[in-house]
Amino acid sequence: MSGRIPQYFIDQLITRTDIVDVIGTRIPLRKAGKEYKACCPFHDEKTPSFNVVPDKQFYHCFGCGAHGTALGFLMEYDHLGFVEAVEELATRAGLDVPYEISSTPAAPKPSQDQYQLMESAAEFFRKRLRAAPIAIEYLKKRGLTGETAARFGIGYAPDAWDELLTQLSHDDASRQTLLRTGLIIERDNKSGFYDRFRQRVMFPIRDSRGRTIGFGGRITEQGEPKYLNSPETELFHKGRELYGLYEARQSTRQLTRLLVVEGYMDVVSLHQAGITFAVATLGTATTPEHLNRIFRVCNEVVFCFDGDRAGRAAAWRALETSLPQAREGRNLRFMFLPDGHDPDTLVQEEGRAAFETRVVKALPLSEYLAQELSARHDLTQVEGRDQFIKQAQELLEKLVDASYRELLFARLAVALNLSVDRLRRVMPLSELDVKHSSTSTVTLASAGRGSVVRQAIQNLLHFPQAAASLSASTLDELANVDKPGVLLLVQLASELKEHPELTSAALLERWRQRPDYHYIDKLFLRGPLASTGEAAAKEVGDAVQRIIAEQFPQQRFDDLMRRFNLGALTPAEKQELRELTQKSRSVRP
Ligand code: UTP
Ligand code: MN
Repeated sequence: MSGRIPQYFIDQLITRTDIVDVIGTRIPLRKAGKEYKACCPFHDEKTPSFNVVPDKQFYHCFGCGAHGTALGFLMEYDHLGFVEAVEELATRAGLDVPYEISSTPAAPKPSQDQYQLMESAAEFFRKRLRAAPIAIEYLKKRGLTGETAARFGIGYAPDAWDELLTQLSHDDASRQTLLRTGLIIERDNKSGFYDRFRQRVMFPIRDSRGRTIGFGGRITEQGEPKYLNSPETELFHKGRELYGLYEARQSTRQLTRLLVVEGYMDVVSLHQAGITFAVATLGTATTPEHLNRIFRVCNEVVFCFDGDRAGRAAAWRALETSLPQAREGRNLRFMFLPDGHDPDTLVQEEGRAAFETRVVKALPLSEYLAQELSARHDLTQVEGRDQFIKQAQELLEKLVDASYRELLFARLAVALNLSVDRLRRVMPLSELDVKHSSTSTVTLASAGRGSVVRQAIQNLLHFPQAAASLSASTLDELANVDKPGVLLLVQLASELKEHPELTSAALLERWRQRPDYHYIDKLFLRGPLASTGEAAAKEVGDAVQRIIAEQFPQQRFDDLMRRFNLGALTPAEKQELRELTQKSRSVRP
């Protein structure tokens, strides 16, 4: 996707969206007073503890703690990424997402006609499959049922040079669009165009919203290449897509793990056997973008490789790519198939249960790393141990998560038969900050339960209009207060004053990408402290006055001092200065 989505648009989108609509079209909601109830879609339950609150445009499950805005719901329930969820809401609201031009040249945004054309092409291929007994025979021979073929939208590109071209284009403009989708190719001498895919079984590649963005075509006879893929286009980026991810999401409500295999047929065959969490990289090595996609959907990934040399090499590459994204709480594992098998043949041969047992037994990353390094180096020799350590050090330096690195470190110590302390001495690693929690969250959390600052934030989150009663000069004074959380409070109040139309949900969405998000989210969940908007405004005002009053009034002090030096103080001011001096001794060293 090109560029950032501007904040105003997200504000506007959240304001225009009704969370009851969004959730109501996905799960049945029952009205209960001002709220709506349902059985929670994120955990198993018989009595409904899932609540949708239209006032706040927020949902919350008291059973499992799931909660969020309409946008958050789409991300969780439809397994969408942030941008995808925004696109989805925008489509519903009939708005176009205005991407900001970023400084790096961005790819042009694919137009709606390209998506439509891809859909028409998929339809064309499916029709042709029905009329091609050879292709049907081929798929049957490979063990696919009609139902599976339908689920994956499999089709057939006939043995002809321009059937698709003549079916789908009637003028120059549509031919140009067809060219941009990669479905046709221009002749060398520019005398015309021809179909890219001919005489191939066609696998549509879908994005996370189910739109066809590319194709893979397998030759049914002997010939090269075995698989022909769509080229890189505005819609299709091979290194980012996972074949079968859309289908996996469709067939499993709650995906808890993904199995990454190599090929189209592997995915299709595994799904048919009931292993519907299989996806494939499209003949490329696993990329960081693939991993991003995966970890947006679930926390467990099992990489599946052939047991041969090529498979081992590919697994190692996957490990190296994964290290920077390895985190505590993410389960990365590796499995190897017996020689001469791929997942397609194996699952057809031994069935679902046996194959799933293999998945369950897959090696954790730490185990695979230790085993592989031990196999590569002779640990009975000094040189071998040195090389092991050198290579391990390089790999561990790729990690950013301190606790995950500790875990690997400990496992490698075992492999070397050294204590962790001993290994630390021979294999020093660079410092990692204990991160993933923003500094302000940490300091705020220690500010004590119910601190005034916290109360003010909580009230503002639930009654955004309360910010209106704070004057700009009050906020300026507040900004000078050096206390945990105050900057966040100032930021919150200032944004609300600038955008009085923001709702609670819009506020939460504004914070989503910021480091304080988890804190904001947590405080919001605690609920409002005041019971009405008016009461909230008063409480916020009082809290702010208190915070300012408790702070040492440096400006006033400076002012009094200056006039004291000029001999221009009234008796009352002299008294005030004496008191302030006392206070300053106790407050400031
Ligand atoms: P394989 O050569 O292992 O084929 O390629 P396969 O998946 O077992 O295919 P079948 O069972 O013979 O039909 C694995 C994957 O690599 C990509 C495809 O995504 C394929 O599914 N590939 C392979 C290509 O893109 N082009 C090729 O020519 C070959
Ligand atoms: Mn195969």
